[in-house]
Amino acid sequence: MSKTRFKHLPGMPDVLPQEMEYFEAILRESQSVANFYGFLKVETPIVEEAELFIKGTGEATEIVQKQMYTFKTKGGENVALRPEFTPSFVRLFVEHGLEEEPKPVKLWGEGPLFRYERPQKGRLRQFHQFNFEIFGSTHPISEAILIKMFLQILKRLGIEKVNVEINSLGCKECQPYFLKVTKKYFSSHKRALCALCKARIQKNPFRIFDCKEEKCQRISKLAPKITEYLCDECKEHFNQVVFYLKAMKIPHLFSPFLARGLDYYQRTVFEIKPSGSEEKKDALIGGGRYDDLIKKFGGKTEGALGGAGGIERIKNLMEELKIPSSLRKRKIEFEEKAKAFLVQLGQKAKLNAIELLDEFYAKKMKIAFALEKDSLSSQLKLASKLGVKYSLILGEKEASEKKVILRNMETGSQRIIPQTQIIRAVKI
Ligand code: HAM
Repeated sequence: MSKTRFKHLPGMPDVLPQEMEYFEAILRESQSVANFYGFLKVETPIVEEAELFIKGTGEATEIVQKQMYTFKTKGGENVALRPEFTPSFVRLFVEHGLEEEPKPVKLWGEGPLFRYERPQKGRLRQFHQFNFEIFGSTHPISEAILIKMFLQILKRLGIEKVNVEINSLGCKECQPYFLKVTKKYFSSHKRALCALCKARIQKNPFRIFDCKEEKCQRISKLAPKITEYLCDECKEHFNQVVFYLKAMKIPHLFSPFLARGLDYYQRTVFEIKPSGSEEKKDALIGGGRYDDLIKKFGGKTEGALGGAGGIERIKNLMEELKIPSSLRKRKIEFEEKAKAFLVQLGQKAKLNAIELLDEFYAKKMKIAFALEKDSLSSQLKLASKLGVKYSLILGEKEASEKKVILRNMETGSQRIIPQTQIIRAVKI
């Protein structure tokens, strides 16, 4: 009888025990940060209707055109192994009536994904992500919060030297015009582009920005920049994202050709890459805003954004940096129910709230908040839904005087306390 020794498929590696420690550390820190920011965990199936990704990820994307594992089931359905989470999360959100919940609805999840890539380090056919999505926020502070969360996860894992790159891709008003300008520009340089980019001009010219061929990069560098073509609303939105990143002391680089390879993005896109080397590094984390996808999937909610981190790429970097996975064996934090909700009213109070939240985070105390909300009633509604004992109310006056109104939600009584006493007051 002939014996057969099997091997794993290319790009679909096993995860061995010492690697599993990194996986677990990455997921543990993601869970802690998800807890602090009030994200609830969900799981979506690995196999979905192929149409979900064709419509969601986008028909013209490389992921759908070249990388998706699709097959017909015995029952004749056209299905796909999920190449990313976002379309599945939007489907889940709309399908299960989560649109009726107070906004924003914040969901996260993790698991394996499949893309038929040319296997190499950091580019696998089966890989894993942790994925965060925020539904129901058009506020530019959400982008800053999301980026901050990802940086906090990396920091907890010992990764601090990273670059945050941001760009805006405009909206359905201004993006089509820019697309036209870009096509015209690349058409006029068609002869100098590689064969693949020649084909990309009409179908997906933004992909040319990502081409690794030197001749294409040279031409890309001189291409028109979308930020010069943004409509006033998109320009203002982008300025506000930058404003909140600065308010949160998050260094970032404006990357005018960051296009990301997915069709649904509008306005802000971002990537987080390891810093410190000249060579082009693959992103550890990527994401952006995709305000129209929910409506495309039959929902009605305004505003959505999210991002995902690649677990293998982060693990590889931790190994390179010699960060021992065992040192990361911490407990999951922020698991307790929030006792208080931080309400902020007005710009000054919002900025003050950002600082106070950092204190709660540093003291490892869970607190509820919704910085994307501006009105008192919507924040108090959320606070009572969460059943918190206290609301900490921060108006412009309190922010100036470094005080806060401590309101007992059960008795309705309230008193003013200095901000230095907040942590102690909420602990009781
Ligand atoms: P993405 O940029 O395609 O975005 O993937 C996010 C991260 O997953 C990448 O930065 C990388 O770390 C990892 N990744 C992607 N492809 C591979 C691969 N072939 N091998 C290993 N790691 C990989 C998305 O997937 C979007 N769904 C993110 C998002 C969420 N946007 C909005 N919400």
